[in-house]
Amino acid sequence: MPFENTLQCGDSNQIIGAMPEGAVDLVVTDPPYGVNYRDRTGRTVKNDDTLESVLPVFDQLYRALKPGGFCISFYGWNRIDRFMAAWKAAGFTVAGHMVWTKDYASRRRYLAYHHEQAYVLVKGQAKLPGKPLADVQPWVYSGNKAHPTEKAVEVLSPLIRSFSRRGDLVCDPFAGSGATLVAAALVGRRYLGVELEERYCRQARTRLDGVVRHVAEPTLLNWQRSAELS
Ligand SMILES: C[S@@+](CC[C@H](N)C(=O)[O-])C[C@H]1O[C@@H](n2cnc3c(N)ncnc32)[C@H](O)[C@@H]1O
Repeated sequence: MPFENTLQCGDSNQIIGAMPEGAVDLVVTDPPYGVNYRDRTGRTVKNDDTLESVLPVFDQLYRALKPGGFCISFYGWNRIDRFMAAWKAAGFTVAGHMVWTKDYASRRRYLAYHHEQAYVLVKGQAKLPGKPLADVQPWVYSGNKAHPTEKAVEVLSPLIRSFSRRGDLVCDPFAGSGATLVAAALVGRRYLGVELEERYCRQARTRLDGVVRHVAEPTLLNWQRSAELS
């Protein structure tokens, strides 16, 4: 498939829209939350001012996902009404909710905000896992070096391991710095990412090249060793 193990630079509405039906095994994504996010250094997230070109992507994801496939989406708690309406209108059923607890507050207003959250959605019915993942997990801070809302690979890998199998195609239509794709490659899954901003596409591709080398090197060494022995 031309899409697999690639990071496509462009709009997910078009790129996921062009994917064959049922081609994706798992979606793990962190869309813009619709909150006009700005970090301490002034960095912003594209399409975070309005969700108009973000929420329709879930219709395309539903079509591209295989029956019984999961879509795990982070979201902003203060826009849950719009996200939930879009997920349900796309056809998804809610299968669970996950919370990651932080030992620091990302913001202080009416509360000191100490958690991140994601919904686990499913297309139709899925088989129950033998050993379900706990829905409360410790947060790992990424440092946000490559992207203002970068997720740590350590947060994403357990999701990918739990909701897909080796060789499956994992899709992130809002890929940012490529953290989901890196996590997928490291646990032996194929990946497809889409990102709108050129600069993050470049960063994600550089990261992914490093992972491909990291994954390939032990194989090369084993091949060299067996060649030496024979
Ligand atoms: C919250 S960030 C994802 C950060 C990512 N999880 C990481 O670890 O780096 C959302 C990303 O979606 C991208 N984006 C927004 N609208 C998009 C669209 N319609 N198609 C593709 N990417 C989009 C933004 O440029 C942004 O990088």
